[in-house]
Parts: sequence; C-alpha cells; structure tokens
Amino acid sequence: MTDVLFVNATLLTGARCGPGALAVRDGRIAGLWQADRAEDAAGEAQRAFPQAAHHDLGGKLLLAGGIDAHVHFREPGGTAKEDLASGSEAALKGGVTSFVDMPNTTPPTVSLAALREKRERAAAVRSHWGFHLGATNDNLAEIRAALQGEDAALFGGIKVFMGSSTGNLLVDRDAVLEEIFALRGKPVLIHSEDEGLVRAGLEAARQRYGEAIPFSAHPAIRSREACLRSTEKALDMAVRLGTRLHILHVSTAEEAALIREAKKSHPGITAETSANYLWFTDKDYERLGGAVKCNPAVKTAADRDALLEAFADGTLDTLGSDHAPHLPEEKRRPYASCPSGIPSVRHSLPVILTLARRHGIPLTRVAAAFSENIARILGIEGRGRLETGAFADLAVVDPDESFRAHGADYKCGWTPYEGETLYGAVKDVYVDGLPVIVDGRPTADRRPGAPLVFHPVSR
Ligand code: DOR
Ligand code: ZN
Repeated sequence: MTDVLFVNATLLTGARCGPGALAVRDGRIAGLWQADRAEDAAGEAQRAFPQAAHHDLGGKLLLAGGIDAHVHFREPGGTAKEDLASGSEAALKGGVTSFVDMPNTTPPTVSLAALREKRERAAAVRSHWGFHLGATNDNLAEIRAALQGEDAALFGGIKVFMGSSTGNLLVDRDAVLEEIFALRGKPVLIHSEDEGLVRAGLEAARQRYGEAIPFSAHPAIRSREACLRSTEKALDMAVRLGTRLHILHVSTAEEAALIREAKKSHPGITAETSANYLWFTDKDYERLGGAVKCNPAVKTAADRDALLEAFADGTLDTLGSDHAPHLPEEKRRPYASCPSGIPSVRHSLPVILTLARRHGIPLTRVAAAFSENIARILGIEGRGRLETGAFADLAVVDPDESFRAHGADYKCGWTPYEGETLYGAVKDVYVDGLPVIVDGRPTADRRPGAPLVFHPVSR
C-alpha cells in the first residue's frame, strides 16, 4: 500500500481538538503532527513522508474509528433482525470500526464453545469484531475456564444481566454475583435493573391497565428505583471486592451522581451511556410508542440533562450504542408483547456530535467516549487511539454537515431517530488503513477485519 498523508485535518483525540496531519503506512498510523496552523503540520508531514499521496480534509474532523462495545447483532438465532455482516456495515457507516457483541443471542454466548462459534461466523465481516461472555446463575465453571490461558483473549468482558431483558439471561443469586465480582482479569459489565422491582412494576401495570398498558408506563414499570437499587448493590459489591465494574447504559440522574462519587476513590469503576438516553425523554413515548421502548427505560428530561452533564464531565466514560434491532411488526405490538430495543449503531456518533454542538460539550469528550476509554477498559491495545504505531482505524467526519437519519440504514429497516436532522456526517472510514466508506458510501473492497485481542485488565 502507498503511504497516505491526511493534511488540513482537525485531529480529534480525548486530549485535543485542533489542526494537524496524520500519515498512514502499511495499515498503521506512521506519524502525527499537531500545530496551531494546519499548513505548518502539513509542511512537517510532507518533509517526513515526501512520497505519500495527499488527502486534503478541508478542516474536517479526523478521529479514531469507534469501538462500540455494546451491540446486539442477533447472530446466531435472530438474523432476520440483524446479522454480523449487516450490523458491521451499519456500524462502519456510523464511523464505528470495531464492535463487541453482547451474549443474548440464541443460543446465548455463555460458553467457550458458543464464543468460538460466533468467532467463526464473524470471520468475513469488514470491521473488527469481538464478543462478550454472558454470565448465568450456573456457568461459573465455564467462565473460570474461559479466563484461563489463551481463551481469555477471545472475549471482552463478562456480561451480567442483574435484571432480565431480551433473551432472559439473568444472574439473580447474590452468592453467584459475589463470585463473579471477585473474578480477575476482565471487566464485569452490568445491565443494572433490579429484577424484583421490574416484575412488581409490570404486575402493578397489569392490575391497573389490564392488557392495554400504555407505552408511557414503561419508565414506571422498569422504574428509576429498579435502576438505583441494582446500581447501589453493584457499587457496594465492587467496592468491597475490588471489581473492575463497568455499568452499562446509565439512565438516571441518581445513578450518575452515585457513580461520580464512587469513582473518586475507585478508579476501577466506570460507566457507559447510550445516545438513546441523551436524546429521548418520556415525552417521546406518546409520539414513538414501541419504537422507543428499550431497557432500561428512557426516563425524564431532568435525567437526560443530568446524563448530558455526566457525559461532559467524564463521569460517564464510554458511549455504547446498545444497538438492539427488532422487526417493525414486533415493535408495533401492544406493550406487553413488544420487545425492547432500539437500532442505533449507525447514528450513535452523529447524535452525540449534534448534542455536543447544541450543549457545548467538548468534542474531546466525544473522542474519549467513542473509542479511547472503552479500549482501555477492555484491554484493547493498538486500536481506539490516534497515536504513532496504532492501527489506522479512522473516521473522517464533517461536524457542520447535517443529514436526516433513516431506518433504511438498518437491516430491520427502521429507527426511532427516523427523520431527525443530525450534525456530523460520517464521510470516510478506514479499517487498518483501507477505505471502507468513501463519501458516505461503502467501497467494494471486501477484505475482512481482524478479531479484537483483549488483554487482561488488572485492578
Ligand atoms: O432494550 C434492550 N434491548 N435492552 C436490553 O438489555 C437488551 C436489548 C436487546 O437485545 O433487545
Ligand atoms: Zn444492551
């Protein structure tokens, strides 16, 4: 491959957003120049790489491709909704060059054998890929075995549903939870809702509404109290046991406040939110119905505002899309039989960029949350950062160009973001230095991506 120089770029990392140039050689970042003036960076880059082909980015953002460690790509078992190849293509269009898929497939990924089967299925996808291992009340021996030796590099984290959701994976025995939280070498990723309170919430709604439960009851059924009780319990356990705890899709102001406090003395505690909780509020149930039903539930405008603040101040470390497609006809069903989940992997970055623009959130925070922090949390080396020697997984984004979100970008054909005007058009995407999206369109190059390698993380 010939050397490529990106000049006249706005280099965006977790530390800085400013003029610069970047060189790519043999699929890796070979040099990085930052200066007050783009021409100065370009001049230096040109002297170091005189033979390189130039790409003038006209001031557009150049950032590390995203690592979305929270997707539900439905393969195996649900490929009418999504599969690894279609999910990966949607991800690439959204600037996401690596994904880590959740274990609530059919069958669930709760054994090494299931993990290996998924790896074989992923071998041809064009982005980089990885998988989390699911916990159940009775697969501890399997998890322990997976943590030993080479197999440990095969999975990102141990996913624990403390409240059940799509797929009904659940760990509800405290003794098992304690053992999982005491494991070492991988982060424990939690879906944090208290199962008992969620069940009680559903029962109360059935008593009150019968079969005609309105979608607006969702945040009362899967309540803030359910989130809070579960997160309090997890934080307490993590502090006691020294767990590397990553709390997924934080949805309430109270949890953000608790996490902010806990992190002061326990840097092994980290948290994620998704664009869904920063964009939608309970006002949207009436307009969107089942389309905006997801678990945990989208809560109030006050929650959204507190989450935006927590995202801006770094309390929420990472951005996961929680891309969770279902068929449109399933999402049109009445509340009780309507599955939870929102397709979003292609729109997660533009949604955040739009919110950053609207609320003055520093773009450095977006870069940190989109790739850098999750790479660190999962022990992914050489990806998710703009630095010399790292793989050239890159996204070129025009923060001033707006476009309309369309469900047609997804295999399932819909999204609750349909028709929204979003800023941050993803123009070009590179995987190991190879252009896979050019001017917003997929290229014909079919070279497969690489399996992510997960290094052990310590306390
Ligand atoms: O809304 C959700 N959908 N929340 C989950 O926890 C799972 C996901 C899915 O897989 O559909
Ligand atoms: Zn999820």
